[in-house]
Amino acid sequence: MKPVASPFVPIREGNALAELPTDVIDLWFAFPDEISDERLLSRYEQLLTDEERTQWRRFYFARHRHQYLVTRALVRSTLSCYADVAPPDWRFSRNAYGKPEIMPGLTELPIRFNLSHTDGLVLCGVVLRHDLGVDVEYRERKNAALNIAEHYFSAREVDDLLKLPASEQKNRFFDYWTLKEAYIKARGMGLSLPLDQFSFHLDGNRPPGISFDERCADDPRHWQFWRIKASEQHVAAVAVKSSANMGLSMKKVVPLSGATAFDCELL
Ligand SMILES: CC(C)(COP(=O)(O)OP(=O)(O)OC[C@H]1O[C@@H](n2cnc3c(N)ncnc32)[C@H](O)[C@@H]1OP(=O)(O)O)[C@@H](O)C(=O)NCCC(=O)NCCS
Repeated sequence: MKPVASPFVPIREGNALAELPTDVIDLWFAFPDEISDERLLSRYEQLLTDEERTQWRRFYFARHRHQYLVTRALVRSTLSCYADVAPPDWRFSRNAYGKPEIMPGLTELPIRFNLSHTDGLVLCGVVLRHDLGVDVEYRERKNAALNIAEHYFSAREVDDLLKLPASEQKNRFFDYWTLKEAYIKARGMGLSLPLDQFSFHLDGNRPPGISFDERCADDPRHWQFWRIKASEQHVAAVAVKSSANMGLSMKKVVPLSGATAFDCELL
């Protein structure tokens, strides 16, 4: 199934805030290469804090600077769909491993979010209350290889990769990689959580499952995962810790401009 593009509509109708049911994860996909309107980009610039502007100017390559700007505009304008806080007014704290959360006191809504960016795609996932992790990867990146898997993945995942025909290994590698990153991002611990202590189980007919070895104190029953084909070149994964059955709502967005339903293929 190809992603369906319908006309872009304004993200917020008047002053109405978007409703986020407790059992839904909103996924907002932005494609930086499709955003070049100078007036829009200068509006993005105005959303940056002084610290973000300093960081933005530090990027050596224009492509990275552009991606940073779209990312900041995406997270700020997206969060403002749900709560009466203007995009430039969002402030964030980070945990000891760098995971950003909304600064306490800005809104009473228990909004959580997670971000991921790769060449050509930025994803912002939003949910109420639950621990959420998202990851996107560009499948054409050069360092996708079995030796990365052998170094970082669990023995079970490496075995599974080696059993596949060479033509299928790259896609499976990115499935594992994005799922593993989404999980460690949901846990908020980054790479301090060794990637070989848990394994994903991929069976085309079922959503991805997880198992943990004795070093990783966690329970597979608490987790739900998705793999998403976001474009021909991009794969995404989502991890959420929730005992309720969660659903995804996917949108393609141009920050501060408009959004459209984004009917991506679940892998
Ligand atoms: C956070 C981390 C897990 C992901 O980084 P990444 O995959 O390079 O980057 P992503 O674009 O997916 O995510 C970055 C965003 O995640 C968020 N983030 C940062 N630290 C985080 C953490 N501890 N937990 C959750 N989210 C975090 C931030 O919003 C960050 O974007 P920002 O700095 O622009 O705000 C990081 O620990 C890391 O360095 N990963 C390296 C990836 C790797 O080499 N993996 C080995 C092969 S599997």
